[in-house]
Amino acid sequence: MFVALEGIDGSGKSTQARHLTSWMKESGFQVYPTFEPTDGPVGSLIRNIFSGRIEADHRTIAGLFVADRLDHLLNKTNGILGKLEQGISVITDRYYLSSFAYQGAHMDMDWVIKANAQSIQLLRPDINLFIDVAPEASMERMQKSRRAADLYETLENLKKVRENFFKAFDQLPQEKIVIIDGNQSEEKVRAEIVREVGKLIERI
Ligand code: ADP
Ligand code: TYD
Repeated sequence: MFVALEGIDGSGKSTQARHLTSWMKESGFQVYPTFEPTDGPVGSLIRNIFSGRIEADHRTIAGLFVADRLDHLLNKTNGILGKLEQGISVITDRYYLSSFAYQGAHMDMDWVIKANAQSIQLLRPDINLFIDVAPEASMERMQKSRRAADLYETLENLKKVRENFFKAFDQLPQEKIVIIDGNQSEEKVRAEIVREVGKLIERI
């Protein structure tokens, strides 16, 4: 199983990735939790750009996400495809839909989709869980947890990114996307995600 968690910043993806990982492990699955941008060389470069240590154009950033994702899939040491071949399920905190929504806010979304064609061809998620939270609420959550703001974490941008996620969903009829109401309590969101993934497991 390959599960992708998606949503705007502060929507609760990493919280729910942890819950889902625990639940799947308790249910007897071997699970590899992972995330993008990765902690590999390209992902580290992206994080340095986001924190302002290195300057780069949005188009360069889009290209780096393409490369980071391919490395995430194909890396011989800990790549996702290798894990799946070993029978290990993978839960990723963000995948290509994030690129369509975030990079699509600065450039033509079709270009971003086309640039990610290799990853789309190599591996589509069995399910994309989109945790939908009001941008105002996610900004408030991030301020409460006093996390340093990333390059894209302004209210205006998060509104645009949220709209772009829905725009991307419309353009991707083959993608399995489930929208989860992330404005609910952490426990309710957890229960909904478990229900959706449970349904998928029954079908496999
Ligand atoms: P993301 O990975 O999407 O950026 P996090 O999981 O880090 O989001 O959550 C952002 C903040 O919101 C954290 O402080 C987290 O504890 C809190 N949080 C997560 N889920 C909920 C929820 N359902 N309701 C309220 N706060 C939440
Ligand atoms: P992440 O570490 O998941 O941040 P958060 O926990 O706040 O959601 O992602 C860091 C930033 O990277 C986030 O602002 C979204 C952005 N991003 C893109 O712009 N494109 C992408 O393809 C991905 C995977 C992430």
